Amino acid sequence: MSALPETLQPGVAADPTPSQAFDVRRFDAPFGAEVVGLDLSKPLNAADFATIHRAHLAHHVLVLRDQRITPAEHVAFSRRFGPLQIHVQKKFQLAGTPEVLIVSNIKENGEPIGLGDAGHYWHSDLSYKERPSLGSLLHAQELPNEGGDTLFADQHAAYEALPQSVKERIATLKAEHSYLAKYEELRARSPWRPALTQAQLDEVKPVVHPVVRTHPETGRKALFVSEHFTTRIVGVPENESRALLSLLFAASTKPEFQLRHRWRPHDIVFWDNRSVVHLAAGTPDSERRKLYRTTIEGDTPF
Ligand code: SIN
Repeated sequence: MSALPETLQPGVAADPTPSQAFDVRRFDAPFGAEVVGLDLSKPLNAADFATIHRAHLAHHVLVLRDQRITPAEHVAFSRRFGPLQIHVQKKFQLAGTPEVLIVSNIKENGEPIGLGDAGHYWHSDLSYKERPSLGSLLHAQELPNEGGDTLFADQHAAYEALPQSVKERIATLKAEHSYLAKYEELRARSPWRPALTQAQLDEVKPVVHPVVRTHPETGRKALFVSEHFTTRIVGVPENESRALLSLLFAASTKPEFQLRHRWRPHDIVFWDNRSVVHLAAGTPDSERRKLYRTTIEGDTPF
């Protein structure tokens, strides 16, 4: 399969599928938009797909309202943007649909049904892979009465606001990303997290990516480090690496660059991991929360 989103592939003009009537409405927030009236259980023609693709690039986070769709339809829509990635935590794949990761704090018979602490630290999905995720689609299945919000922070705006001296210092630097960076910390608070097998460890060997990446479709620069997965800046003394990372983590998540998503039933939130980092704000233990997530493979960052 080509890694190009289908909008960029030849031959999209001759699609006979009727158009859907939907609106893209920008949020009254630093970024993000909602898509109202679109029904992903119905066929989506190439022109409508192109509208969604453009909106995703422009707004970084799209909230597709009222999507009463099956996991297979969720997977099929996600695949139109590129190949899907299978999460290393196979235990929380949806049965029969390995492309769907269950994100949930629910326990059944004392056993967690999903990754309950996904998003506990700011991150960009799968930045620990050679080809991190282009985007992720999280579909609400069961929502808490309180809490459970997801926060996003715009990494283009964060980069642009850095002092010129910092921009110059980090311009050519690279950083290591590791799935294991916070794994033991997470296991200490979530003992159900399994020790990883050798095969899983082989899937998540540390990788090195530029600290500032260029978005492959828009050409905009963005910070590409996160407190969850970035372990060190390569080739600089350890104390400078630590100081620079803590400066960049703080710069990347300033409140003025954030969007808070308050979930509504049947929302799909589709974010661009090349443009934003995100955080699960937390759900009280007394509340139930379940969402299905797909992740789309992106390019090697440059
Ligand atoms: C994630 O990091 O993918 C999960 C975010 C959330 O549960 O709000």
